[in-house]
Amino acid sequence: MDLSDKLDELKTKFDEAVSKCSSLRELADLRVIYLGRKGELTQILRGLAGLSPEEKRNVGQKANTIKIDFEQGLNALAEKIENAETVGKAKKFDVTVPGIEPHAGTVHPITKTMNRMSEIFVSLGFRIADGPEIENEFYNFEALNIPLEHPARDGFDTFYIKGKYLLRSHTSNVQIHVMQTQKPPVQVIMPGRVYRPDAVDASHSFMFHQVEGLMVGKKVSFADLKGVLLAFCQSMFGPDIKIRLRPNYFPFTEPSAEVDISCIICKGKGCRLCSGNGWLEILGAGMVNPKVFEAVGYDPEEYTGFAFGMGVERITLLLYGIDDIRLFYENDIRFLKQFR
Ligand code: PHE
Repeated sequence: MDLSDKLDELKTKFDEAVSKCSSLRELADLRVIYLGRKGELTQILRGLAGLSPEEKRNVGQKANTIKIDFEQGLNALAEKIENAETVGKAKKFDVTVPGIEPHAGTVHPITKTMNRMSEIFVSLGFRIADGPEIENEFYNFEALNIPLEHPARDGFDTFYIKGKYLLRSHTSNVQIHVMQTQKPPVQVIMPGRVYRPDAVDASHSFMFHQVEGLMVGKKVSFADLKGVLLAFCQSMFGPDIKIRLRPNYFPFTEPSAEVDISCIICKGKGCRLCSGNGWLEILGAGMVNPKVFEAVGYDPEEYTGFAFGMGVERITLLLYGIDDIRLFYENDIRFLKQFR
């Protein structure tokens, strides 16, 4: 077989290989076989050396034409395969497959409860006030009628920082700041963090949250207090909720009361949540003690007022049926995710 026949044979093999080739990978192999330095065409061209000048020209021309054919053929094939693959991918894209939901954070349950509380009180005409967490004894105690050495201080165990500074043990300090800077009428709630050196367990934490309330005016009465608290509790826990006030003592209010709501689980019949008595304690309240008014420069003959304070953790535990306060501070995503 002379070189010209070999070239014809090679061209036939090439055409056949191209017709069977369907991937870019196979195509890369074909390039090596037909156009590579060790490929068959190169071998044939090497054989030209032993030919007569005339044959050299004929076969040489033929070989060059074939080489160009191979190059063009392979380029065309590459384009064809690439197009086919793109179309294939587009066909495989299923628009009906459900999307992948991006991870979104959730509002912390304590924040959720505080937001809800604020909404309710704002709807009742209260404004929101803020005060310092690092406080001195005057605002946390003295102005609230809790003098030094008074046994009532025991009830508000306190973290002391330096000298007269401390971490506030309740949000009642903000009452004093508000009244010092504002003339009556006053109608505010004061949400925030408070600190007490309690041993941590399922129902105690050294840091927790309170929402304080204060209303002062010319004829603010105990009935107003009761009305506001009933409206709040029914918005928060449901329209059938009842409230009950039991006499209590706080130095900064007189008279004072502890306020219970009818059990949100058994509706008052008695169950495990309410220890069988049908009521759940949720807050402390009372009429502002005239001594507190004196401390801030309000005239106790002219003004009366009420105040209340409630624990946000306690209310959140009740609302969601959670039995351990520590869950609020562990930042366990599996817990937090449930408050979507
Ligand atoms: N400060 C009280 C407490 O922390 C709650 C309270 C506030 C009671 C206002 C009466 C009036 O227990």
